[in-house]
Amino acid sequence: MAEELLRVEHLKKSYQSKEVLHDINFAIHKGEVVALLGSSGSGKSTLIRTLNGLEDYQGGTITFAGETVHPSKATWLALRQRIGMVFQSYDLFPNLSVLDNILLGPLKVQHRSRAEAEEDARKLLASVNLADYADRYPRQLSGGQKQRIAIVRALALHPEMMLFDEVTASLDPEMVRGVLDIMTDLAKRDMTMIVVTHEMNFAREVADRVLFLSDGEILEDRQTAEFFAHPATKRAQEFLASMEF
Ligand SMILES: Nc1ncnc2c1ncn2[C@@H]1O[C@H](COP(=O)(O)OP(=O)(O)OP(=O)(O)O)[C@@H](O)[C@H]1O
Ligand SMILES: [Mg+2]
Repeated sequence: MAEELLRVEHLKKSYQSKEVLHDINFAIHKGEVVALLGSSGSGKSTLIRTLNGLEDYQGGTITFAGETVHPSKATWLALRQRIGMVFQSYDLFPNLSVLDNILLGPLKVQHRSRAEAEEDARKLLASVNLADYADRYPRQLSGGQKQRIAIVRALALHPEMMLFDEVTASLDPEMVRGVLDIMTDLAKRDMTMIVVTHEMNFAREVADRVLFLSDGEILEDRQTAEFFAHPATKRAQEFLASMEF
């Protein structure tokens, strides 16, 4: 089995006095693709955001690449280069070209040379079939194209792991496939990924494992085929029955 990359132990997270994640435990190995599934409000986004330092947590430990995370601004700034994240809303800077949006992190945060970072960015753009879009501005792109750029922007930092939170949820149906294809391709190239998605067919095809979250608890942590064929809990059975796929 590949090396462990992420370990979460006894994680607890509250908003004000309300605990929304209770005693979360799981580990992810290098190259694994994990689908994080669960109904609305179950805590998927909260968990993903906590793993990127966008939310604090009140208990438990996160271990990344063998090192316990001691939360601080500096720690998370460093870790966000190693754990990339893409959200439902692609927040590209409207006043910067596609290329400059992508180069912001590599130049300002990683202090790489412009020539090297630009060559890298253009290769990444080509890999998502947007080589000709480097000089465009976000307003000149479709939703699907913006989301592909948002993924490229995260990949430009060469993260060791990627977190995706419903990245196709706000896209027109005809745009969804192109974005899912990029994630499928990343998975095939052994990127370690946690993917929150309502696209059940995609989850079933691409994920190695499913974490099923319900009311802030992981009710099932199973191999994907087993989860879809034989969900063990009533909650998961009801969840799958409610999804169209
Ligand atoms: N900023 C916040 N302040 C207070 N409560 C919040 C906040 N964000 C989320 N919550 C609560 O935390 C719980 C988990 O929400 P979360 O957004 O993580 O769910 P989710 O599984 O991502 O749902 P969805 O599928 O709708 O995106 C919910 O009860 C929600 O109301
Ligand atoms: Mg969410």
